[in-house]
Amino acid sequence: MIFEKPVALGADHGGYALKEEIKQHLAAQGIPYRDFGTDSTASCDYPDYALPPCDAVVNGECGAAILCCGTGVGISIAANKVKGIRACCCSDAFSAEYTRRHNNANALCMGGRVVGPGLACTLADLFLNTPFEGGRHQLRIDKITAIENR
Ligand code: RB5
Repeated sequence: MIFEKPVALGADHGGYALKEEIKQHLAAQGIPYRDFGTDSTASCDYPDYALPPCDAVVNGECGAAILCCGTGVGISIAANKVKGIRACCCSDAFSAEYTRRHNNANALCMGGRVVGPGLACTLADLFLNTPFEGGRHQLRIDKITAIENR
């Protein structure tokens, strides 16, 4: 894994089961994580479970976040409101790899009603093991940061 700090996990009820699968997958590889909930399939609101893991990434406690809701979309929208977070909602391998290579994404979002556990773990592995290419891509990220700081 390229991130040197624990992976921050968060999910609403729609992503809870997928988060639990990803936890097991990380643990099997000895990858440290912090689980910010939710802890059951009881209905809850995805912004509440996007913010704590994203804050942990931005404040340096965690290296990256993996976030799950029903579609992966809502929790990615919420995550991208946190200054310093670059979240990508992925359901294919190319996007999971290239959001690291080109966007230096620090949050991977997936939908528990979209991807199965096997694919989700493959996407997580790609995300956690792919380095950022820098160069011209850094210039573009600097422009995103400028939008954040407007
Ligand atoms: C919850 O039903 C669902 O709306 C949520 O998990 C997510 O898919 C929103 O984008």
